[in-house]
Amino acid sequence: MAGTPWGGGYPVATSYLETAQPLQAPDLIDLSLLAAGHLPPRREGGFRYAELGCGTGFTLIGLAALHPEGQFLGIDFMPEHVARARAFIAEAGLANIEIAEASFAELAAAPPPAAFDYVAMHGVWTWVSAENRAHLAAILGRWLAPGGVCYNGYSAAAGWQETAQIRRIFREAPQIPGRPQFEAARAAVDAWLAAGGGSETAARLWKKLAKLPDRYLAHDFGAEHASACWCPEVAAALAPAKMGFAAPADLFDQFDTLRFEPGWAEFVRRAAAEGWGETARDMASGRGFRTDLFGRGTPRIGEAQQQDLLGRIAIRDWPPLLRHETQEAEERGKRGFGPETAAKVAAALEGGPVTIGSFAARTGLPARQGLQAALLGLARREIRMVAPPEVLAARAAPVKGYLAALRSRLARGEPVPGVASPALSQVVPLGANEAAALSSSCLPEALARLGLG
Ligand SMILES: C[S@@+](CC[C@H](N)C(=O)[O-])C[C@H]1O[C@@H](n2cnc3c(N)ncnc32)[C@H](O)[C@@H]1O
Repeated sequence: MAGTPWGGGYPVATSYLETAQPLQAPDLIDLSLLAAGHLPPRREGGFRYAELGCGTGFTLIGLAALHPEGQFLGIDFMPEHVARARAFIAEAGLANIEIAEASFAELAAAPPPAAFDYVAMHGVWTWVSAENRAHLAAILGRWLAPGGVCYNGYSAAAGWQETAQIRRIFREAPQIPGRPQFEAARAAVDAWLAAGGGSETAARLWKKLAKLPDRYLAHDFGAEHASACWCPEVAAALAPAKMGFAAPADLFDQFDTLRFEPGWAEFVRRAAAEGWGETARDMASGRGFRTDLFGRGTPRIGEAQQQDLLGRIAIRDWPPLLRHETQEAEERGKRGFGPETAAKVAAALEGGPVTIGSFAARTGLPARQGLQAALLGLARREIRMVAPPEVLAARAAPVKGYLAALRSRLARGEPVPGVASPALSQVVPLGANEAAALSSSCLPEALARLGLG
């Protein structure tokens, strides 16, 4: 599992498994910032978006197809990732995205490009050495525009510690020639859990990890410097770049009463009042991964401006149709609206997309409560933000080329882990059968709703 010298401890023997990461979408980043009372980057004249450690760029390329008004740059030091990403971009015919082959050390030493409004890092911060994290902080300090925001998805200490023994097993279990790479390690972890090893959290996390192929686990478990952080540790490392924690990237993570049983919610409430809320939230959820937004001077806004900006966003109801939507509904739907509010919300959403401002008025609730109902529905994903017709029209041409490239991939038997949705302005994860529907007439309702009909 040891990395070759140029990998600096990162496993570079096999390319990374592609994934679709919805939360990297600028619209979702903006929503979370706004809900937390921060002004998102201004986008009137277009915007610039970079991803550090973009892998094969699957999510970034989808975002570029959705945002012809944006300029996108992906960075990765694995030549195979760069070559794969460039081939996809060429096939899709996208002109607003570039992928550069560079290490974080090289970038930190090079003159910065024009400033970026958004910089994303997913599965990078806690996969690389302390030295590389310092390079990342230096890059962010020079690349992010004032008011810009960094999306950081990283291993969270609370749950990660629970999987330490699983990692140990993966490090030591033999790899048997001619057999799948981690067959012995997987069996050993199952045996460890069956024998009573590990906590409930470890068993829950392994249930998710076990579904992932060896190619993913090779990167997750094979990174020599793999570690996990608490949110304040990341904030401290980014402070010299004049950055600070702004909000969790996922709106759901802003609602303790949705996430936690009353006892844990009270624990978190007290901790938040004392200033260590994010750490307490990780303890309460036992999660092993976090997605956070760190601002570089993202201005605070008052309630009136917040209400005005949120009020302009178009939303609609979104009953689950795709596999990940059903999963999310199960995970997030436990603590829903009371029956009276649910009826008001449903009535206010009848007849198709509506702005949050009109929705709030239609519920008949006081303005602040109406807004809150929209945010709760958005957090639980039973309500979604949807792009207005003029934005859909601007996306039509680039998305057409992008879809043609996805269909070619399917025809070649290559995996397609998700699709850029013009309606949702994000890259949506798809199961293998769902992805196949992009080249057939299956799932017409789900695809039409995504703006792919
Ligand atoms: C776990 S993968 C995540 C890829 C992608 N962000 C995603 O979520 O699908 C980490 C990525 O960081 C890249 N990487 C690791 N160390 C790096 C370094 N020192 N310089 C540039 N890229 C690096 C790897 O090649 C890999 O593509």
